[in-house]
Amino acid sequence: MIPLVDLEAQYLQIKEEIDEIIRDVVNSRSFIQGRYVTAFETEFARLQQCDHVVGCSNGTSALFLALLAAGIKAGDEVITTPATFIATAEAICHVGAVPVFVDIDPATYTIDPSLIESRITSKTRAILPVHLYGNPADMDSIMALARAHDLRVIEDCAQAHLATYNTRPVGTFGDAGAFSFYPGKNLGAYGDAGAVITGDPDRAKMMRLLADHGRDSKYIHTIIGYNHRMDGLQGGILLVKLKYLQRWTEQRRSNAQRYSSLLHDVEGLQLPFSRELSEHVYHLYVVQVPNRDTVISYLQENGVSASIHYPIPLHLQPALKFLGYREGDFPVAEHAARHIVSLPMYPELTPEQIERVCSLLVTAVKNEG
Ligand SMILES: Cc1ncc(COP(=O)(O)O)c(C=O)c1O
Repeated sequence: MIPLVDLEAQYLQIKEEIDEIIRDVVNSRSFIQGRYVTAFETEFARLQQCDHVVGCSNGTSALFLALLAAGIKAGDEVITTPATFIATAEAICHVGAVPVFVDIDPATYTIDPSLIESRITSKTRAILPVHLYGNPADMDSIMALARAHDLRVIEDCAQAHLATYNTRPVGTFGDAGAFSFYPGKNLGAYGDAGAVITGDPDRAKMMRLLADHGRDSKYIHTIIGYNHRMDGLQGGILLVKLKYLQRWTEQRRSNAQRYSSLLHDVEGLQLPFSRELSEHVYHLYVVQVPNRDTVISYLQENGVSASIHYPIPLHLQPALKFLGYREGDFPVAEHAARHIVSLPMYPELTPEQIERVCSLLVTAVKNEG
């Protein structure tokens, strides 16, 4: 079986270091925050080229903390994309704001900036682009709109560790960038974890307070906060894995190149597109095919795991029905949701495995299976 993600292969490469750090965390009983989380924050700041990193409990809480610290509150509107994981919209709802969807660019699957302006109202406070699949959104256009309309920008970087736009890492354009370290992400913990990055020290301080019961010092709580702290085991594991992130990212890119070179002339197949200014980090390698369900079944029957990220755009999710959207509102996102397939993608994927996936895919797309 060729899995979609192979977390065991990754663990086996770094088993000794991981086992040792787990022992260290337990021996030092740094279970909540503590020195491993602090060391991780420092190192992640260096790699992401930002001033402040606030480790937290997961990517959803990272978005929530970023929105709260940006002053987004009940009744505000936040413009975002329907082509993302539900957490993007959940975080907006959790601060009491209203997600306002804008369709995506058909080549990159990221929010289409040319459609944003017409959705700006007197209630709009922020834009929340998602660097989906590891592909940076069009940050020049988004930042220009935000400046023109005095809007905050929170970047959802859950799938885009180390991705860059115009040589600058994602998460450093807006007011804050939210990362997830869910186990299958490009940088994955062994449980839930996340982080927010920002260039603003006051914002970082506010997010730290919010994530830790509003605690300024051990027994002084200056605001009513939450418990969204990162735990020590995750901090330690992420610290070990950070050393390899650059190499793993290069391996993902080279695997993507191999896929694309084998698939570029297959009729009916749409391959991932990376803007000239962007460095895509291929959290997922997503293609569009005319006959999606047949393709997925054929791949599965032949020992290849393939998946869909995501089959239902957010505006059609039952949980968001109250927003009042309908089928047909975002034709590009809806078309993509019907045709996308995520192929196996992880650093340890071998050239032979990629060749096998491609040859099965080509047969399935041509309906010769
Ligand atoms: C685009 C996107 N945003 C937010 C999240 C939320 O992250 P988490 O699962 O760590 O809460 C995820 C991942 O699951 C994601 O893919």
